[in-house]
Amino acid sequence: MRKKIVAGNWKMNKTPKEALELVELLKEKVDTDTVDVVFCVPAIDIIPVAEALKGTKIALGAQNMHFEESGAYTGEISAAMLKECGVQYVVLGHSERREYFGETDETVNKKVKKALEHGLTPIMCCGETLQQREEGVTMEHIRTQIKRGLLGVAADDVAKMVIAYEPIWAIGTGKTATDEQAEEVCAAIRQVVGEVFGAETAEQVRIQYGGSVNGKNAASLFAKADIDGGLVGGASLKTEFEQIVKFG
Ligand code: 13P
Repeated sequence: MRKKIVAGNWKMNKTPKEALELVELLKEKVDTDTVDVVFCVPAIDIIPVAEALKGTKIALGAQNMHFEESGAYTGEISAAMLKECGVQYVVLGHSERREYFGETDETVNKKVKKALEHGLTPIMCCGETLQQREEGVTMEHIRTQIKRGLLGVAADDVAKMVIAYEPIWAIGTGKTATDEQAEEVCAAIRQVVGEVFGAETAEQVRIQYGGSVNGKNAASLFAKADIDGGLVGGASLKTEFEQIVKFG
């Protein structure tokens, strides 16, 4: 039985001071054993938020990292740096990073491997554009992203990972995928994981839906067989996040 996981992706929001205010507002409301709860915070907020989350069951996540061990990569942050600061999860290959910062399946793959090497759990994102959906190539696109993103990763590592299906047309638009649309793609992701890594791995990997998840639509989305929780943007910055965690 897979445990549900609800992660808040704060994106580029909250200064360190504001981050601490948000943690204070939310932490008692979302501190639970029944669901894994993760706050994926901006890099500069990691150290203060790690301190503020001590004594809770809420896990800390980052939103990106570099795939090299260390070196001349100005502005980048390594897996070892995240790990030392108490980070457990790292979002990799979010569509915003693919669109604005040139991330490719190849760089995502390198990052997934480096994160796993350091004991971080990747939350690897995939998702189609509106054009791809309208052209009927959603499944091919998602299958390619999954196969390339996980290329050369060991099956037992894939089993520990989280994959987030985030249709790009549903992100920040208020236009959520229907429960059926979300389930159809999450089931297809599980199927491709099964084809490449075997049935046991497919059974264990956790698959989230993301894209305009809110306190109202979370219950029916998370009730679907292949949806193991959500990656939540806007609604993770508000007390509404409590509602979403309750449905996890
Ligand atoms: P919204 O929940 O704001 O649509 O963002 C989804 C997302 O991109 C989470 O990573």
